[in-house]
Amino acid sequence: MLPADPGDARYSQWLLRWYDAHARDLPWRHKPGEPADPYRVWLSEIMLQQTTVATVRPRFAEFIARWPTVTALAATDDADLMGAWAGLGYYARARNLLACARQVVTAHGGVFPPEEAALRALPGIGDYTAAAIAAIAFGKRAVVIDGNVERVVARLFAIDTPLPAAKPIIRLLVDQITPMTRAGDFAQAMMDLGSGLCGPRVTQCLLCPLRTVCRAAAAGTPTAFPVKPRKSAKPQRYGTVFWLEHAGKILLVRRPDKGLLGGMRALPTGPWTDTAPGLEGAPDAAIDWQIAPDRVSHVFTHFTLELALAVGRAEGHSPPATGEWWAITSLDSAGLPTVFAKAARLGPRLGPRLGN
Ligand code: ADE
Repeated sequence: MLPADPGDARYSQWLLRWYDAHARDLPWRHKPGEPADPYRVWLSEIMLQQTTVATVRPRFAEFIARWPTVTALAATDDADLMGAWAGLGYYARARNLLACARQVVTAHGGVFPPEEAALRALPGIGDYTAAAIAAIAFGKRAVVIDGNVERVVARLFAIDTPLPAAKPIIRLLVDQITPMTRAGDFAQAMMDLGSGLCGPRVTQCLLCPLRTVCRAAAAGTPTAFPVKPRKSAKPQRYGTVFWLEHAGKILLVRRPDKGLLGGMRALPTGPWTDTAPGLEGAPDAAIDWQIAPDRVSHVFTHFTLELALAVGRAEGHSPPATGEWWAITSLDSAGLPTVFAKAARLGPRLGPRLGN
């Protein structure tokens, strides 16, 4: 039996009943009936951004033992904090952590503000974290959405719009099923569901408190949701590669250290752009370049490249100062990246165009 609409109170009732029996015992969660400590909630939420619960557990305990209050943390020096953060990654979080602690002390008298908007104004606190702290630490009704919540809700309502386009509808649905009271427990229950029974690849629907109202489970395809975005076609770029011959040798250059194929030996090319650049960037503009009919195609991680081949002879012109002349017969030993090796394989066939 599926509730008619997401405003049905049974979603949160069933979930909270399950949470009361099965909540994970995590060191930053307060005991039932005890008040939450916003400092612990904030610290855990920052640590849990991009880092797993298993990694955070012991590190959270270390931090709390060393800095039991936000005031103590605010007074530490930057190097000590950065040292303590080592191994947790994303070090901007550590710098923001300290900036936030200091701002809580200087602007809020050492007490975290309870309102989402005021929390969001603090360093390192975005929409998700502000909502999580407001709900978990202060019992406010806030809409808390992380990756786990997104997955659970996409399944509950079998949302067939792919992510990220589905985010606004997911937000509306989470808003509708979030209860007026216990929004923090509700959020953490959704997270626990998402990290346990309703995992990305494996589900245990028979144990789920929401199985009777889950549309994806009813369809028998829970892991088909959330629908992944279709892989977008890679952008197409165009360029020209220059095959400049001189006495059985061709011109090779070193690519700039920064950028794609940085520091590698290569055939000279002009820019790689959305439209074919023609002879722009030719190593010697005075040469009578011939455009070969052949094209070189290569697929990079983020785009597909099609290179035209311009062929020229350096006789009668001073060879370019940059680069090196390389015997055509030993091009195999030049260590050219694949895209240029493909061009180099075509080059020798172009001799007739040069009147060889
Ligand atoms: N991930 C982020 N915040 C969390 C929380 N409060 N409980 C469990 N997992 C989380």
